[in-house]
Amino acid sequence: ADAATIAAVRPADAAAIAAAGALLAAGRLVAFPTETVYGLAADATNDRAVAAIFAAKGRPRFNPLIVHLAAADQAAALARVDDRAARLMAAFWPGPLTLVLPRRPEGPLSPLVSAGLPTVALRVPAGPVAGPLIHAAGRPLAAPSANRSGYLSPTTAAHVAADLEMGPGADQVAMVLDGGPTSVGLESTVLDLTGPTPALLRPGGLDPDALAEVLGAPVAVAAPPADPEAPTAPGQLASHYAPRRPLRLNATEARPGEALLGFAGTPGALADLSPAGDLVEAAANLFRRLHELDAGPHAALAVAPIPERGLGIAINDRLRRAAAPREETR
Ligand code: TXA
Ligand code: MG
Repeated sequence: ADAATIAAVRPADAAAIAAAGALLAAGRLVAFPTETVYGLAADATNDRAVAAIFAAKGRPRFNPLIVHLAAADQAAALARVDDRAARLMAAFWPGPLTLVLPRRPEGPLSPLVSAGLPTVALRVPAGPVAGPLIHAAGRPLAAPSANRSGYLSPTTAAHVAADLEMGPGADQVAMVLDGGPTSVGLESTVLDLTGPTPALLRPGGLDPDALAEVLGAPVAVAAPPADPEAPTAPGQLASHYAPRRPLRLNATEARPGEALLGFAGTPGALADLSPAGDLVEAAANLFRRLHELDAGPHAALAVAPIPERGLGIAINDRLRRAAAPREETR
C-alpha cells in the first residue's frame, strides 16, 4: 500500500518538511507522524483550514481538536497556564501528554479547534518530524488522528493513505509525510486542568502514575464517554458552547428583535455563513459568527436552514445543541 492516490506520500526529509510547512501556511492539510499516531494537520489559526480537517475525516460533529506546538513556551499566548500545567509541561513535553486548559479568548486560534468551548487542548509532540514541521509551518497546528471518523488511529503513512483514500475528503490532503512507524503507537493521554481537580479524559501513551507523581496526588478518571472521540465527561456537555441569547433554527426571515444568520444568501440576514452556499466555508465561520451576533445588540438569534449533507450534518448537530432548552446549564 505505497503510492497513495489521495496525495503525495513523501519520505519526511528536510525538503519534504519544508514543502509541507509551506502547504500548511497556505491553508492546506498535511498528514504527519508524531510519536503517538499520525495526525492530520492544519493551521490552527485558519478557520477554513480547520474546517477542512472535519471534511476530510467525515466527522458527523465538531469535536474539539488538539493544538500542537513546537515548544512549551508557546502555550501561554493561547491558554492560561497555571502552576500544575507548568510542572507537567516541564516534566513531559515533548511527549504523549495533552493538557486541556482555559483558552485565551483574545488569542489567535480558530474557535473551531475548540468546537466553541472556552477551553483548548495543547501538546508538544515528540519524534523527529513533528517539531521541525510545526517550526516550518510557523504556526500552531490543529491535528486529530489522521483516520476517518470511527476508524483506527494510523501508526504508519500507509495506514493514513489507505484510510483517508476511502473517505469523502481524500482530495483535501495535500501531502502525507512518511516518518516510518510511530514509536508509541497509542494516542496521547488527555488531562483536563480546567477545574480544581485534574481529570483524566483519555488514557493514552503516558502512564497516569507518572502524572500523579508530578501532581503529588492521584489523578481522577473521568467517566468513559459514550463516544470515545467526544468530550462527554459529566458536566462537559453542559459546557458545550451555547449562545446566551435564544436561538431559532430553520429561519427564513428575521422576526423583530432577531439577528438572522443566513446561508447561501438568505435575504435580511445580518451575516451569512457562506454566501456561496459552501458548507466548508459555513463550518469555518460558524462559531465566530455565533459569538459575534451573541455579543451584539439583538435580543434573539435565528439561523437559516443548513443542508443536511457533508459538513452540514456537523453544523446542524451543533446548532440543535445551541438551540436546545438549557435549564440544566449555568
Ligand atoms: O496522540 C494524539 O493525541 C493524536 C496526535 C495526532 O497528536 N491526536 C489525537 O487527536 O488523538 P483526536 O482529535 O483524535 O483526539 C483528541 C482528543 C479527543 O478525545 C477530544 O475530545 C479531546 O482530545 N479534546 C480536544 N480538545 C478538547 C477540549 N477542549 N476539551 C476536552 N477534550 C478535548
Ligand atoms: Mg482520533
